[in-house]
Amino acid sequence: MLTLNFDGKLLRDDVLLRAWSIAEKNRTVLPEANNYLFMSENFYALSVLMKYFSGQVDLIYIDPPFNTMQDFYISEGRANSVSAAKGRRAYADKMPPEKFLAFLRERLILIHELLSDRVSLYLHINCKTGHYVKIILDEIFGAQNFMNDIARIKSNPKNFFRRAWGNEHDMLLFFAKHSGLNIWNDVKAPMSESEIIRRFPKTDPDGRHYTTIPLHAPGETRGGVTGRAWRNIPVPEGRHWRTDPAEFDRLDAQGLIEWSSTGNPRIKKYADEHEGMKIQDVWTFKDPQNPIYPTEKNHDMLKLIIGQSSLPGSIVLDCFAGSGSSLLCAHELGRRWIGIDQSEEAVRIMRERLRGEYIFIRLTSK
Ligand SMILES: C[S@@+](CC[C@H](N)C(=O)[O-])C[C@H]1O[C@@H](n2cnc3c(N)ncnc32)[C@H](O)[C@@H]1O
Repeated sequence: MLTLNFDGKLLRDDVLLRAWSIAEKNRTVLPEANNYLFMSENFYALSVLMKYFSGQVDLIYIDPPFNTMQDFYISEGRANSVSAAKGRRAYADKMPPEKFLAFLRERLILIHELLSDRVSLYLHINCKTGHYVKIILDEIFGAQNFMNDIARIKSNPKNFFRRAWGNEHDMLLFFAKHSGLNIWNDVKAPMSESEIIRRFPKTDPDGRHYTTIPLHAPGETRGGVTGRAWRNIPVPEGRHWRTDPAEFDRLDAQGLIEWSSTGNPRIKKYADEHEGMKIQDVWTFKDPQNPIYPTEKNHDMLKLIIGQSSLPGSIVLDCFAGSGSSLLCAHELGRRWIGIDQSEEAVRIMRERLRGEYIFIRLTSK
């Protein structure tokens, strides 16, 4: 197996032993609820949650600090990352690289324990650190369960001078616990106006865009209905009708067959009935211009992830919850959620923002 070595890397079993010992000592009794918000250091909270939620979480989105060597502040309701800024510190993001990798890996080991068999993990990270994190995730989840490295265009092009290309993307590493079992709702993207015009170039008198396709497809059928002549039109050689010709009568009666001047019939396909486009792995979802919390993430992006990789009633976990963007989106889409953050500022903002019923618990080792 390909692994990454760095100072401070513990054995997986030692990480789990520490977590189980925390879980055993902790006396918190979790009341039954759909949603939970924990103010807690997340290794501690995840250890306690192992007792309650092992094998139950269907989707994890995490946006940990990116190891940017900055402090993040909030002043007068606006978030910024200027280390000298006057304001309340939201969180610090200053760890030596090996320490950061060890920190993240230990939490990912615990997260892996909480996952259902159909889980997806989306880990948001920048390009400086993300490639190391990919190897760590390969180790914990198995390289065969790596699904995508999504490039997320996060900002407008940057023009400041640097002897390198401008950087406008970060990355989302997407893993399944078992590729092939992960929840996948096959959400599609609507076509853009230019794509509609390119793929559906014809227009009906009522303005609907359409294109036409032949009634037949490659491959011969012998003896079946899709090989017989329709209205005295024989199937072209080496081809078969797409469907039982009786269906063509029905389509024709509804005006869904277009006849050319030479009597060639073709089926009309309308743009507004198209199921949408397969979504690819380059996304443009810029973050809010005036975030209420530093590094607050784009809600449309989070809704896409939640809508694609969880079901109504699924538990969505974010243990670096910040302003609770992922929890809000999960709630709006009818999912259950568990949020964890240790920052007073994050929790204050989440408590102002989060809708619906949830249980709030402060978890500490004391
Ligand atoms: C990048 S921010 C998340 C922003 C969030 N995605 C949003 O849209 O608002 C990372 C968060 O992780 C929290 N965090 C960092 N280390 C933590 C730890 N060990 N335990 C709990 N929270 C932690 C920070 O307080 C911070 O709020």
